[in-house]
Amino acid sequence: MGAPPLPMLPPATIAPSGDAGCGAMGCMGGSGTKPFYATLMDMPSLTPEARRFIETEAGKRLGSGSEAITTGQALLHHALSANDPAAMQRAIADVRLGVLQAESGAAALLAVNEGQPPRQIALTWIKGQTSVPATVGMSMNEGPWGLSWYHLTTMVFLVAFMLGAILIHYARLRRIDGLVQRLTPGATPAPAGNPKPVARTDSGTAPKPAPPSVPTTSAAPTQKPPTTEAPTPAKASMRWSGALRVAQIFRETPFVKTFRLMEPTEGPIPFSFLPGQFLNFSAEIDGKRIQRSYTIASSPTQRDYVEFTVKREDQGAESRYLHDNIAVGDHLDVSGPFGVFTFTGTETASIVLISGGVGITPMMCVTRYLTDRNFTGDIFFLHGARSTQNYIFREELEYLQKRHENLHVVATMESAEGTAWSGTVGLISKEFIERAVPEISRRRVHVCGPPPMMEAVKAALAELGVPNGKIKTESFGLAKGAVPAPDATLPAVPPAPSATVAAAIPSAQAEVQFSKSGKTGLLAPDKCVLEAAEAIGVAIDFSCRVGTCGICVVPLLDGSVTMEVEEGLPPEDKARGIILACQAKSAGNLVVDA
Ligand SMILES: Cc1cc2nc3c(=O)[nH]c(=O)nc-3n(C[C@H](O)[C@H](O)[C@H](O)COP(=O)(O)OP(=O)(O)OC[C@H]3O[C@@H](n4cnc5c(N)ncnc54)[C@H](O)[C@@H]3O)c2cc1C
Ligand code: FES
Repeated sequence: MGAPPLPMLPPATIAPSGDAGCGAMGCMGGSGTKPFYATLMDMPSLTPEARRFIETEAGKRLGSGSEAITTGQALLHHALSANDPAAMQRAIADVRLGVLQAESGAAALLAVNEGQPPRQIALTWIKGQTSVPATVGMSMNEGPWGLSWYHLTTMVFLVAFMLGAILIHYARLRRIDGLVQRLTPGATPAPAGNPKPVARTDSGTAPKPAPPSVPTTSAAPTQKPPTTEAPTPAKASMRWSGALRVAQIFRETPFVKTFRLMEPTEGPIPFSFLPGQFLNFSAEIDGKRIQRSYTIASSPTQRDYVEFTVKREDQGAESRYLHDNIAVGDHLDVSGPFGVFTFTGTETASIVLISGGVGITPMMCVTRYLTDRNFTGDIFFLHGARSTQNYIFREELEYLQKRHENLHVVATMESAEGTAWSGTVGLISKEFIERAVPEISRRRVHVCGPPPMMEAVKAALAELGVPNGKIKTESFGLAKGAVPAPDATLPAVPPAPSATVAAAIPSAQAEVQFSKSGKTGLLAPDKCVLEAAEAIGVAIDFSCRVGTCGICVVPLLDGSVTMEVEEGLPPEDKARGIILACQAKSAGNLVVDA
Protein backbone atom coordinates (compact mmCIF):
# COMPACT_ATOMS: atom_id res chain seq x y z
CA MET A 1 0.00 0.00 0.00
CA GLY A 2 1.52 3.33 -1.05
CA ALA A 3 1.65 6.42 1.11
CA PRO A 4 -1.32 8.75 0.89
CA PRO A 5 -0.58 11.82 -1.17
CA LEU A 6 0.77 14.83 0.69
CA PRO A 7 -2.03 17.36 0.93
CA MET A 8 -1.42 20.79 -0.51
CA LEU A 9 -1.42 23.06 2.48
CA PRO A 10 -3.73 25.98 2.05
CA PRO A 11 -2.30 29.18 3.54
CA ALA A 12 -4.98 29.18 6.24
CA THR A 13 -3.42 26.09 7.83
CA ILE A 14 0.02 27.67 8.06
CA ALA A 15 0.20 29.53 11.30
CA PRO A 16 2.74 32.25 11.86
CA SER A 17 5.96 30.86 13.25
CA GLY A 18 5.53 32.81 16.45
CA ASP A 19 2.37 30.84 17.25
CA ALA A 20 3.30 28.39 19.96
CA GLY A 21 0.12 26.35 19.61
CA CYS A 22 0.02 25.91 15.85
CA GLY A 23 2.71 25.69 13.27
CA ALA A 24 3.23 25.25 9.62
CA MET A 25 2.27 21.62 10.22
CA GLY A 26 -1.27 22.89 10.80
CA CYS A 27 -3.41 23.69 13.80
CA MET A 28 -5.13 20.87 15.55
CA GLY A 29 -8.77 20.76 14.94
CA GLY A 30 -8.70 23.95 12.91
CA SER A 31 -10.19 25.07 9.76
CA GLY A 32 -11.73 22.07 8.18
CA THR A 33 -8.62 21.25 6.13
CA LYS A 34 -6.95 18.14 7.50
CA PRO A 35 -3.82 19.34 9.27
CA PHE A 36 -0.52 18.16 7.87
CA TYR A 37 0.57 16.52 11.08
CA ALA A 38 -2.63 14.39 10.94
CA THR A 39 -1.74 13.33 7.41
CA LEU A 40 1.68 12.37 8.70
CA MET A 41 0.06 10.25 11.41
CA ASP A 42 -1.64 8.24 8.63
CA MET A 43 1.46 7.81 6.43
CA PRO A 44 3.15 4.42 6.64
CA SER A 45 6.43 5.90 5.36
CA LEU A 46 7.76 9.40 4.77
CA THR A 47 7.34 10.63 1.18
CA PRO A 48 10.11 12.80 -0.29
CA GLU A 49 7.64 15.71 -0.54
CA ALA A 50 6.69 15.34 3.11
CA ARG A 51 10.36 15.19 4.10
CA ARG A 52 11.16 18.36 2.14
CA PHE A 53 8.19 20.13 3.60
CA ILE A 54 9.16 19.23 7.16
CA GLU A 55 12.77 20.24 6.57
CA THR A 56 11.72 23.60 5.13
CA GLU A 57 9.31 24.35 7.95
CA ALA A 58 11.77 23.19 10.61
CA GLY A 59 14.43 25.41 9.04
CA LYS A 60 12.07 28.37 9.19
CA ARG A 61 11.41 27.73 12.86
CA LEU A 62 15.11 27.48 13.60
CA GLY A 63 15.73 30.72 11.71
CA SER A 64 12.96 32.73 13.29
CA GLY A 65 13.80 31.21 16.70
CA SER A 66 17.45 32.18 16.56
CA GLU A 67 16.53 35.64 15.28
CA ALA A 68 14.15 36.10 18.21
CA ILE A 69 16.86 34.95 20.66
CA THR A 70 19.40 37.42 19.25
CA THR A 71 16.92 40.30 19.27
CA GLY A 72 15.78 39.39 22.77
CA GLN A 73 19.39 39.32 24.01
CA ALA A 74 20.11 42.72 22.50
CA LEU A 75 16.94 44.12 24.05
CA LEU A 76 17.92 42.61 27.41
CA HIS A 77 21.33 44.30 27.25
CA HIS A 78 19.69 47.63 26.54
CA ALA A 79 17.10 47.08 29.26
CA LEU A 80 19.80 46.23 31.80
CA SER A 81 21.88 49.26 31.00
CA ALA A 82 18.72 51.40 31.10
CA ASN A 83 17.61 49.82 34.40
CA ASP A 84 14.19 49.17 32.92
CA PRO A 85 12.67 46.06 34.58
CA ALA A 86 9.57 46.10 32.31
CA ALA A 87 11.77 46.08 29.23
CA MET A 88 13.89 43.31 30.82
CA GLN A 89 10.74 41.23 31.26
CA ARG A 90 9.70 41.76 27.64
CA ALA A 91 13.18 40.91 26.40
CA ILE A 92 13.30 37.70 28.48
CA ALA A 93 9.89 36.67 27.09
CA ASP A 94 11.21 37.24 23.56
CA VAL A 95 14.25 35.06 24.22
CA ARG A 96 12.07 32.29 25.68
CA LEU A 97 9.76 32.34 22.66
CA GLY A 98 12.78 32.16 20.37
CA VAL A 99 14.14 29.15 22.27
CA LEU A 100 10.80 27.34 21.99
CA GLN A 101 10.66 27.96 18.26
CA ALA A 102 14.23 26.89 17.64
CA GLU A 103 13.78 23.80 19.84
CA SER A 104 10.74 22.56 17.94
CA GLY A 105 12.49 23.09 14.58
CA ALA A 106 15.59 21.22 15.74
CA ALA A 107 13.54 18.34 17.16
CA ALA A 108 11.65 17.88 13.89
CA LEU A 109 14.88 17.95 11.84
CA LEU A 110 16.44 15.40 14.15
CA ALA A 111 13.42 13.12 13.85
CA VAL A 112 13.58 13.30 10.04
CA ASN A 113 17.34 12.74 9.99
CA GLU A 114 17.03 9.74 12.28
CA GLY A 115 14.54 8.24 9.82
CA GLN A 116 11.77 8.05 12.37
CA PRO A 117 8.36 6.91 11.07
CA PRO A 118 5.99 9.71 9.99
CA ARG A 119 3.74 9.21 12.99
CA GLN A 120 6.67 9.62 15.36
CA ILE A 121 7.78 12.75 13.48
CA ALA A 122 4.30 14.22 13.82
CA LEU A 123 4.32 13.49 17.53
CA THR A 124 7.81 14.96 17.87
CA TRP A 125 6.66 18.12 16.13
CA ILE A 126 3.75 18.45 18.50
CA LYS A 127 5.95 17.56 21.44
CA GLY A 128 8.24 20.40 20.42
CA GLN A 129 5.33 22.76 20.75
CA THR A 130 3.71 21.33 23.83
CA SER A 131 6.61 19.79 25.80
CA VAL A 132 4.64 16.53 26.03
CA PRO A 133 6.40 13.22 25.48
CA ALA A 134 5.41 11.68 22.22
CA THR A 135 3.58 8.38 22.57
CA VAL A 136 4.07 5.83 19.91
CA GLY A 137 2.05 2.88 18.86
CA MET A 138 -1.42 4.42 19.21
CA SER A 139 -4.05 3.27 16.84
CA MET A 140 -5.75 6.02 14.89
CA ASN A 141 -8.74 3.97 14.12
CA GLU A 142 -10.70 3.29 17.26
CA GLY A 143 -10.62 4.23 20.89
CA PRO A 144 -12.70 4.29 24.05
CA TRP A 145 -15.93 6.21 24.57
CA GLY A 146 -16.77 5.93 20.90
CA LEU A 147 -14.03 8.41 20.02
CA SER A 148 -11.43 7.73 17.39
CA TRP A 149 -7.84 7.58 18.57
CA TYR A 150 -7.24 10.60 16.38
CA HIS A 151 -9.78 12.65 18.33
CA LEU A 152 -8.64 11.27 21.63
CA THR A 153 -4.99 12.05 20.85
CA THR A 154 -5.92 15.49 19.72
CA MET A 155 -7.77 16.12 22.97
CA VAL A 156 -4.89 14.76 25.03
CA PHE A 157 -2.48 17.01 23.20
CA LEU A 158 -4.76 19.99 23.64
CA VAL A 159 -4.97 19.40 27.37
CA ALA A 160 -1.24 18.73 27.53
CA PHE A 161 -0.56 21.86 25.54
CA MET A 162 -2.63 23.92 27.96
CA LEU A 163 -0.84 22.34 30.92
CA GLY A 164 2.48 22.93 29.21
CA ALA A 165 1.61 26.57 28.59
CA ILE A 166 0.63 26.99 32.24
CA LEU A 167 3.86 25.32 33.35
CA ILE A 168 5.94 27.48 31.05
CA HIS A 169 4.17 30.56 32.34
CA TYR A 170 4.79 29.44 35.93
CA ALA A 171 8.45 28.69 35.23
CA ARG A 172 8.76 32.09 33.57
CA LEU A 173 7.30 33.82 36.61
CA ARG A 174 9.76 31.93 38.82
CA ARG A 175 12.69 32.93 36.66
CA ILE A 176 11.57 36.53 36.62
CA ASP A 177 11.12 36.30 40.38
CA GLY A 178 14.65 34.98 40.65
CA LEU A 179 15.93 37.79 38.49
CA VAL A 180 14.07 40.38 40.54
CA GLN A 181 15.48 38.77 43.70
CA ARG A 182 18.97 39.27 42.37
CA LEU A 183 18.16 42.83 41.40
CA THR A 184 16.71 43.80 44.73
CA PRO A 185 18.86 45.29 47.44
CA GLY A 186 18.23 42.51 49.91
CA ALA A 187 19.89 40.05 47.60
CA THR A 188 23.29 41.49 48.41
CA PRO A 189 24.25 41.28 52.03
CA ALA A 190 24.44 44.85 53.19
CA PRO A 191 27.51 45.76 55.13
CA ALA A 192 26.95 46.14 58.82
CA GLY A 193 26.57 49.73 59.73
CA ASN A 194 26.15 50.71 56.11
CA PRO A 195 24.34 53.95 56.60
CA LYS A 196 22.57 54.08 53.26
CA PRO A 197 19.87 51.83 51.92
CA VAL A 198 20.72 50.16 48.65
CA ALA A 199 18.71 51.91 45.99
CA ARG A 200 19.28 49.46 43.20
CA THR A 201 21.92 46.83 42.99
CA ASP A 202 23.62 44.69 40.44
CA SER A 203 21.93 42.14 38.34
CA GLY A 204 24.86 39.83 38.19
CA THR A 205 25.16 36.37 39.51
CA ALA A 206 26.70 36.05 42.92
CA PRO A 207 30.25 37.19 42.47
CA LYS A 208 32.99 34.72 43.14
CA PRO A 209 35.80 35.73 45.44
CA ALA A 210 38.76 37.00 43.49
CA PRO A 211 42.35 36.10 44.08
CA PRO A 212 44.66 38.93 45.05
CA SER A 213 45.46 41.12 42.10
CA VAL A 214 48.52 42.83 40.76
CA PRO A 215 48.96 45.86 42.95
CA THR A 216 48.51 49.07 41.06
CA THR A 217 51.40 50.83 42.66
CA SER A 218 54.19 52.26 40.60
CA ALA A 219 56.35 49.38 41.70
CA ALA A 220 57.05 46.71 39.11
CA PRO A 221 54.21 44.22 39.17
CA THR A 222 54.88 40.67 40.18
CA GLN A 223 53.19 37.48 39.01
CA LYS A 224 49.78 38.16 37.49
CA PRO A 225 47.17 36.12 39.31
CA PRO A 226 44.33 34.33 37.60
CA THR A 227 41.22 36.42 37.34
CA THR A 228 37.66 35.62 38.17
CA GLU A 229 34.72 35.62 35.84
CA ALA A 230 33.73 39.15 34.99
CA PRO A 231 30.28 40.58 34.73
CA THR A 232 29.06 40.67 31.17
CA PRO A 233 27.35 43.83 29.95
CA ALA A 234 24.05 42.15 30.61
CA LYS A 235 24.96 41.49 34.23
CA ALA A 236 26.39 44.86 35.02
CA SER A 237 25.35 48.44 35.47
CA MET A 238 22.60 48.34 38.07
CA ARG A 239 23.04 51.25 40.46
CA TRP A 240 24.07 50.93 44.06
CA SER A 241 24.81 53.46 46.75
CA GLY A 242 26.42 53.09 50.12
CA ALA A 243 29.68 53.33 52.00
CA LEU A 244 32.89 51.51 51.08
CA ARG A 245 36.01 51.23 53.21
CA VAL A 246 39.36 52.55 52.06
CA ALA A 247 41.49 49.41 52.23
CA GLN A 248 44.72 50.71 50.71
CA ILE A 249 46.17 53.85 49.20
CA PHE A 250 48.93 53.76 46.60
CA ARG A 251 50.99 56.69 45.43
CA GLU A 252 51.28 56.50 41.65
CA THR A 253 53.05 59.80 40.89
CA PRO A 254 53.81 62.91 42.94
CA PHE A 255 50.27 64.22 42.36
CA VAL A 256 48.30 61.05 41.83
CA LYS A 257 47.05 58.48 44.31
CA THR A 258 45.04 55.30 43.87
CA PHE A 259 42.42 54.43 46.49
CA ARG A 260 41.34 50.83 46.90
CA LEU A 261 37.80 50.45 48.24
CA MET A 262 36.33 47.31 49.75
CA GLU A 263 33.14 46.20 51.41
CA PRO A 264 33.35 47.25 55.09
CA THR A 265 32.45 43.69 56.09
CA GLU A 266 34.79 42.07 53.57
CA GLY A 267 33.25 40.03 50.76
CA PRO A 268 32.83 41.07 47.16
CA ILE A 269 31.96 44.60 46.17
CA PRO A 270 28.19 44.99 46.16
CA PHE A 271 27.75 46.04 42.53
CA SER A 272 28.93 45.15 39.08
CA PHE A 273 30.20 47.57 36.50
CA LEU A 274 31.43 47.76 32.96
CA PRO A 275 35.00 48.66 32.04
CA GLY A 276 35.08 52.46 31.71
CA GLN A 277 32.29 53.34 34.11
CA PHE A 278 32.66 55.68 37.07
CA LEU A 279 31.37 56.19 40.58
CA ASN A 280 29.96 59.33 42.09
CA PHE A 281 31.53 60.36 45.39
CA SER A 282 29.70 62.46 47.87
CA ALA A 283 31.54 64.09 50.76
CA GLU A 284 30.95 66.71 53.40
CA ILE A 285 33.85 69.13 53.08
CA ASP A 286 33.99 72.23 55.26
CA GLY A 287 30.31 71.81 56.10
CA LYS A 288 29.26 71.60 52.45
CA ARG A 289 28.22 68.42 50.66
CA ILE A 290 29.90 68.08 47.29
CA GLN A 291 29.79 65.42 44.61
CA ARG A 292 32.51 64.40 42.19
CA SER A 293 32.93 61.55 39.74
CA TYR A 294 35.90 59.20 39.57
CA THR A 295 36.41 56.45 37.04
CA ILE A 296 36.85 52.93 38.33
CA ALA A 297 40.40 52.15 37.24
CA SER A 298 40.46 48.54 38.41
CA SER A 299 39.04 45.78 36.28
CA PRO A 300 35.50 44.42 36.70
CA THR A 301 37.17 41.00 36.88
CA GLN A 302 38.29 41.93 40.38
CA ARG A 303 35.31 41.35 42.63
CA ASP A 304 36.98 42.06 45.98
CA TYR A 305 37.66 45.73 45.45
CA VAL A 306 37.38 48.74 43.20
CA GLU A 307 40.16 51.25 42.73
CA PHE A 308 40.00 54.84 41.61
CA THR A 309 42.94 57.05 40.83
CA VAL A 310 42.85 60.75 41.60
CA LYS A 311 45.00 63.65 40.54
CA ARG A 312 45.34 66.27 43.24
CA GLU A 313 44.17 69.63 41.93
CA ASP A 314 45.94 72.52 43.63
CA GLN A 315 42.73 74.15 44.71
CA GLY A 316 40.33 71.31 44.07
CA ALA A 317 37.87 70.62 46.86
CA GLU A 318 37.38 66.86 46.55
CA SER A 319 40.74 65.82 45.12
CA ARG A 320 42.63 67.69 47.88
CA TYR A 321 40.29 66.24 50.48
CA LEU A 322 40.95 62.71 49.21
CA HIS A 323 44.70 63.22 48.98
CA ASP A 324 45.19 65.09 52.22
CA ASN A 325 42.48 63.79 54.55
CA ILE A 326 41.51 60.28 53.62
CA ALA A 327 43.37 57.41 55.24
CA VAL A 328 43.13 53.63 55.24
CA GLY A 329 40.08 52.56 57.25
CA ASP A 330 37.98 55.61 56.36
CA HIS A 331 34.62 55.18 54.67
CA LEU A 332 33.56 56.91 51.46
CA ASP A 333 30.00 57.43 50.25
CA VAL A 334 29.69 56.29 46.68
CA SER A 335 26.93 55.68 44.18
CA GLY A 336 27.02 54.13 40.76
CA PRO A 337 28.16 52.77 38.48
CA PHE A 338 27.42 55.41 35.87
CA GLY A 339 28.56 56.13 32.36
CA VAL A 340 28.45 54.88 28.82
CA PHE A 341 32.14 55.29 27.99
CA THR A 342 32.62 51.56 28.08
CA PHE A 343 34.29 48.84 26.07
CA THR A 344 33.91 45.17 26.87
CA GLY A 345 35.62 43.62 23.86
CA THR A 346 32.38 42.55 22.24
CA GLU A 347 31.68 45.77 20.39
CA THR A 348 34.52 45.71 17.85
CA ALA A 349 37.46 43.50 16.95
CA SER A 350 40.07 46.03 18.08
CA ILE A 351 40.24 49.19 20.15
CA VAL A 352 42.31 52.36 20.21
CA LEU A 353 42.59 54.04 23.63
CA ILE A 354 44.00 57.57 23.61
CA SER A 355 44.47 59.38 26.89
CA GLY A 356 46.18 62.38 28.39
CA GLY A 357 47.16 62.81 32.06
CA VAL A 358 44.70 61.36 34.53
CA GLY A 359 42.37 60.59 31.59
CA ILE A 360 44.31 57.33 31.57
CA THR A 361 41.99 55.86 34.24
CA PRO A 362 39.15 54.55 32.01
CA MET A 363 41.72 53.26 29.51
CA MET A 364 43.52 51.41 32.28
CA CYS A 365 40.30 49.80 33.41
CA VAL A 366 39.50 48.65 29.87
CA THR A 367 43.07 47.38 29.34
CA ARG A 368 43.15 45.51 32.63
CA TYR A 369 39.78 43.98 31.81
CA LEU A 370 40.67 43.00 28.24
CA THR A 371 44.00 41.46 29.21
CA ASP A 372 42.40 39.64 32.14
CA ARG A 373 39.83 38.24 29.75
CA ASN A 374 42.39 37.37 27.08
CA PHE A 375 40.79 39.60 24.48
CA THR A 376 42.44 38.57 21.24
CA GLY A 377 41.96 41.78 19.24
CA ASP A 378 44.54 44.56 19.04
CA ILE A 379 44.59 47.09 21.88
CA PHE A 380 46.37 50.30 20.88
CA PHE A 381 47.15 52.25 24.04
CA LEU A 382 48.31 55.80 23.30
CA HIS A 383 49.13 58.08 26.20
CA GLY A 384 50.43 61.57 26.68
CA ALA A 385 51.99 62.67 29.98
CA ARG A 386 53.72 65.85 31.10
CA SER A 387 56.90 63.92 31.98
CA THR A 388 58.03 60.43 32.88
CA GLN A 389 57.55 61.36 36.51
CA ASN A 390 53.86 61.96 35.78
CA TYR A 391 53.33 58.89 33.61
CA ILE A 392 50.68 57.06 35.64
CA PHE A 393 50.66 53.22 35.54
CA ARG A 394 53.83 53.15 33.43
CA GLU A 395 55.35 50.03 34.99
CA GLU A 396 52.13 48.08 34.90
CA LEU A 397 51.54 48.97 31.25
CA GLU A 398 55.05 47.89 30.31
CA TYR A 399 54.53 44.67 32.22
CA LEU A 400 51.19 43.97 30.54
CA GLN A 401 52.64 44.73 27.13
CA LYS A 402 55.35 42.14 27.66
CA ARG A 403 52.76 39.52 28.43
CA HIS A 404 50.14 40.39 25.80
CA GLU A 405 51.43 40.76 22.29
CA ASN A 406 48.15 42.28 21.15
CA LEU A 407 48.66 45.22 23.55
CA HIS A 408 50.59 48.05 21.88
CA VAL A 409 51.53 50.80 24.35
CA VAL A 410 52.96 54.03 22.95
CA ALA A 411 53.51 57.14 25.04
CA THR A 412 54.74 60.64 24.47
CA MET A 413 56.17 63.00 27.10
CA GLU A 414 55.46 66.69 26.85
CA SER A 415 58.93 67.24 28.23
CA ALA A 416 61.70 64.70 28.73
CA GLU A 417 64.50 67.00 29.76
CA GLY A 418 66.89 65.46 32.23
CA THR A 419 65.32 62.00 31.96
CA ALA A 420 66.34 58.81 30.21
CA TRP A 421 63.15 58.81 28.11
CA SER A 422 63.93 57.58 24.60
CA GLY A 423 60.37 57.63 23.27
CA THR A 424 58.42 60.38 21.56
CA VAL A 425 58.54 63.86 23.03
CA GLY A 426 55.75 66.39 22.49
CA LEU A 427 51.99 66.43 22.49
CA ILE A 428 49.79 63.75 20.97
CA SER A 429 49.62 64.70 17.30
CA LYS A 430 48.14 63.37 14.09
CA GLU A 431 51.56 61.99 13.12
CA PHE A 432 51.99 60.30 16.51
CA ILE A 433 48.60 58.59 16.15
CA GLU A 434 49.25 57.64 12.52
CA ARG A 435 52.57 56.02 13.42
CA ALA A 436 51.10 54.11 16.34
CA VAL A 437 47.90 52.76 14.81
CA PRO A 438 47.65 51.16 11.37
CA GLU A 439 44.37 51.65 9.49
CA ILE A 440 42.92 53.76 12.26
CA SER A 441 39.95 54.86 10.17
CA ARG A 442 38.35 51.43 10.51
CA ARG A 443 38.84 51.15 14.27
CA ARG A 444 36.87 52.28 17.30
CA VAL A 445 38.68 55.01 19.23
CA HIS A 446 38.22 56.09 22.86
CA VAL A 447 39.56 59.47 23.93
CA CYS A 448 39.86 60.92 27.43
CA GLY A 449 41.98 63.71 28.80
CA PRO A 450 42.13 67.44 29.43
CA PRO A 451 39.77 69.44 27.17
CA PRO A 452 42.51 70.95 24.91
CA MET A 453 44.09 67.54 24.37
CA MET A 454 40.71 66.04 23.50
CA GLU A 455 39.96 68.77 20.99
CA ALA A 456 43.36 68.30 19.33
CA VAL A 457 42.97 64.52 19.20
CA LYS A 458 39.45 64.74 17.79
CA ALA A 459 40.69 67.08 15.04
CA ALA A 460 43.58 64.71 14.27
CA LEU A 461 41.23 61.74 14.10
CA ALA A 462 38.97 63.61 11.71
CA GLU A 463 41.98 64.29 9.48
CA LEU A 464 42.89 60.62 9.62
CA GLY A 465 39.42 59.75 8.36
CA VAL A 466 37.99 58.22 11.53
CA PRO A 467 34.22 58.61 11.28
CA ASN A 468 32.58 60.47 14.16
CA GLY A 469 30.48 57.45 15.01
CA LYS A 470 33.64 55.46 15.83
CA ILE A 471 34.97 58.03 18.29
CA LYS A 472 33.85 57.79 21.92
CA THR A 473 34.91 60.44 24.38
CA GLU A 474 34.75 61.07 28.10
CA SER A 475 35.46 64.50 29.45
CA PHE A 476 36.69 64.95 33.00
CA GLY A 477 36.31 68.55 31.99
CA LEU A 478 35.56 71.03 34.60
CA ALA A 479 31.99 71.09 35.55
CA LYS A 480 30.71 74.62 35.27
CA GLY A 481 28.91 74.41 38.56
CA ALA A 482 31.66 72.33 40.12
CA VAL A 483 34.20 75.11 40.27
CA PRO A 484 33.61 76.47 43.70
CA ALA A 485 32.24 79.94 43.92
CA PRO A 486 34.13 82.15 46.33
CA ASP A 487 31.66 81.33 49.06
CA ALA A 488 31.22 77.64 48.71
CA THR A 489 30.93 74.41 46.84
CA LEU A 490 27.54 72.84 46.35
CA PRO A 491 25.22 73.31 49.26
CA ALA A 492 24.12 70.13 51.00
CA VAL A 493 20.47 70.96 50.49
CA PRO A 494 19.76 73.62 47.94
CA PRO A 495 17.64 76.48 49.21
CA ALA A 496 13.99 75.65 48.72
CA PRO A 497 11.94 78.70 48.07
CA SER A 498 8.25 78.70 47.38
CA ALA A 499 6.68 76.57 44.74
CA THR A 500 6.89 79.10 41.94
CA VAL A 501 9.89 81.35 41.86
CA ALA A 502 9.50 83.75 39.01
CA ALA A 503 12.53 85.84 39.80
CA ALA A 504 14.93 82.94 40.03
CA ILE A 505 16.44 83.36 36.59
CA PRO A 506 16.40 86.73 34.94
CA SER A 507 15.08 87.08 31.42
CA ALA A 508 13.16 83.85 31.74
CA GLN A 509 10.49 83.29 29.18
CA ALA A 510 9.30 79.72 29.57
CA GLU A 511 8.26 77.76 32.63
CA VAL A 512 9.49 74.40 33.76
CA GLN A 513 7.26 72.40 36.01
CA PHE A 514 8.86 69.73 38.21
CA SER A 515 6.07 67.23 38.70
CA LYS A 516 7.52 65.20 41.60
CA SER A 517 8.43 68.14 43.78
CA GLY A 518 5.39 70.18 42.75
CA LYS A 519 7.52 73.24 41.99
CA THR A 520 7.58 75.44 38.95
CA GLY A 521 10.44 77.68 37.90
CA LEU A 522 11.28 79.95 35.04
CA LEU A 523 13.52 78.75 32.26
CA ALA A 524 15.55 81.32 30.38
CA PRO A 525 16.43 80.26 26.84
CA ASP A 526 20.14 80.19 27.70
CA LYS A 527 19.72 78.18 30.93
CA CYS A 528 19.41 74.44 31.26
CA VAL A 529 16.80 72.49 33.19
CA LEU A 530 19.39 71.67 35.87
CA GLU A 531 20.06 75.36 36.51
CA ALA A 532 16.32 76.08 36.63
CA ALA A 533 15.92 73.24 39.13
CA GLU A 534 18.78 74.44 41.33
CA ALA A 535 17.36 77.94 41.33
CA ILE A 536 14.19 76.76 43.05
CA GLY A 537 15.64 73.99 45.19
CA VAL A 538 14.68 70.97 43.14
CA ALA A 539 17.37 68.33 43.62
CA ILE A 540 18.64 66.65 40.46
CA ASP A 541 21.83 64.58 40.72
CA PHE A 542 24.66 65.74 38.54
CA SER A 543 28.38 65.39 38.13
CA CYS A 544 30.08 66.59 34.96
CA ARG A 545 27.54 69.22 33.85
CA VAL A 546 28.88 68.86 30.34
CA GLY A 547 26.60 66.15 29.03
CA THR A 548 28.97 63.22 29.29
CA CYS A 549 28.45 61.45 32.59
CA GLY A 550 24.71 60.76 32.30
CA ILE A 551 23.98 61.28 35.98
CA CYS A 552 21.50 64.12 35.50
CA VAL A 553 19.02 62.10 33.45
CA VAL A 554 15.36 62.96 34.04
CA PRO A 555 12.21 62.02 32.14
CA LEU A 556 10.67 64.83 30.11
CA LEU A 557 6.90 64.57 30.45
CA ASP A 558 5.90 67.47 28.22
CA GLY A 559 7.54 69.93 25.87
CA SER A 560 10.65 69.65 23.76
CA VAL A 561 14.28 70.48 24.44
CA THR A 562 17.57 70.85 22.62
CA MET A 563 20.76 69.35 24.04
CA GLU A 564 24.17 70.51 22.86
CA VAL A 565 26.03 67.44 24.14
CA GLU A 566 24.32 64.07 24.50
CA GLU A 567 27.24 61.73 25.02
CA GLY A 568 25.95 60.59 28.38
CA LEU A 569 22.53 59.69 27.02
CA PRO A 570 22.05 56.31 25.31
CA PRO A 571 19.92 56.73 22.15
CA GLU A 572 17.31 54.32 23.45
CA ASP A 573 16.85 56.47 26.57
CA LYS A 574 16.52 59.56 24.41
CA ALA A 575 13.88 57.77 22.36
CA ARG A 576 11.99 57.13 25.61
CA GLY A 577 11.90 60.83 26.39
CA ILE A 578 14.80 60.96 28.85
CA ILE A 579 16.86 64.15 28.83
CA LEU A 580 20.12 65.35 30.34
CA ALA A 581 19.07 68.12 32.71
CA CYS A 582 22.49 69.76 32.45
CA GLN A 583 22.10 70.14 28.69
CA ALA A 584 18.36 70.50 28.11
CA LYS A 585 17.29 73.99 27.05
CA SER A 586 13.99 75.15 25.70
CA ALA A 587 12.16 78.22 24.56
CA GLY A 588 8.83 76.58 25.43
CA ASN A 589 7.20 75.31 28.59
CA LEU A 590 8.33 71.98 29.98
CA VAL A 591 7.13 69.39 32.46
CA VAL A 592 9.93 67.31 33.96
CA ASP A 593 9.65 64.31 36.29
CA ALA A 594 11.84 65.58 39.13
C1 LIG B 1 32.92 61.02 34.38
C2 LIG B 1 34.10 61.62 35.12
C3 LIG B 1 35.12 60.77 35.52
C4 LIG B 1 36.24 61.32 36.19
N1 LIG B 1 37.25 60.49 36.58
C5 LIG B 1 38.34 61.02 37.20
C6 LIG B 1 39.43 60.19 37.57
O1 LIG B 1 39.44 58.98 37.36
N2 LIG B 1 40.48 60.79 38.21
C7 LIG B 1 40.52 62.13 38.47
O2 LIG B 1 41.50 62.62 39.06
N3 LIG B 1 39.48 62.93 38.10
C8 LIG B 1 38.40 62.40 37.49
N4 LIG B 1 37.36 63.21 37.14
C9 LIG B 1 37.40 64.64 37.54
C10 LIG B 1 36.86 64.77 38.96
O3 LIG B 1 35.49 64.47 38.97
C11 LIG B 1 36.98 66.17 39.53
O4 LIG B 1 36.42 67.07 38.61
C12 LIG B 1 38.41 66.55 39.81
O5 LIG B 1 38.99 65.66 40.74
C13 LIG B 1 38.45 67.97 40.38
O6 LIG B 1 37.59 68.03 41.47
P1 LIG B 1 37.92 68.91 42.75
O7 LIG B 1 36.73 68.90 43.63
O8 LIG B 1 39.21 68.51 43.34
O9 LIG B 1 38.13 70.31 42.08
P2 LIG B 1 37.07 71.49 42.07
O10 LIG B 1 36.90 72.02 43.42
O11 LIG B 1 35.88 71.01 41.37
O12 LIG B 1 37.85 72.50 41.19
C14 LIG B 1 37.96 72.28 39.82
C15 LIG B 1 39.21 72.96 39.29
O13 LIG B 1 39.17 74.34 39.55
C16 LIG B 1 40.35 74.75 40.21
N5 LIG B 1 39.94 75.73 41.23
C17 LIG B 1 39.11 75.53 42.25
N6 LIG B 1 38.96 76.65 42.95
C18 LIG B 1 39.72 77.57 42.35
C19 LIG B 1 40.01 78.91 42.58
N7 LIG B 1 39.45 79.56 43.60
N8 LIG B 1 40.87 79.55 41.76
C20 LIG B 1 41.43 78.91 40.71
N9 LIG B 1 41.20 77.62 40.44
C21 LIG B 1 40.36 76.97 41.23
C22 LIG B 1 40.92 73.50 40.86
O14 LIG B 1 42.33 73.55 40.97
C23 LIG B 1 40.50 72.45 39.90
O15 LIG B 1 41.45 72.34 38.88
C24 LIG B 1 36.27 62.69 36.47
C25 LIG B 1 35.23 63.52 36.06
C26 LIG B 1 34.16 62.99 35.39
C27 LIG B 1 33.03 63.88 34.95
S1 FES C 1 25.71 66.11 34.87
FE1 FES C 1 26.85 64.79 33.62
S2 FES C 1 25.58 64.58 31.88
FE2 FES C 1 24.60 66.04 33.06
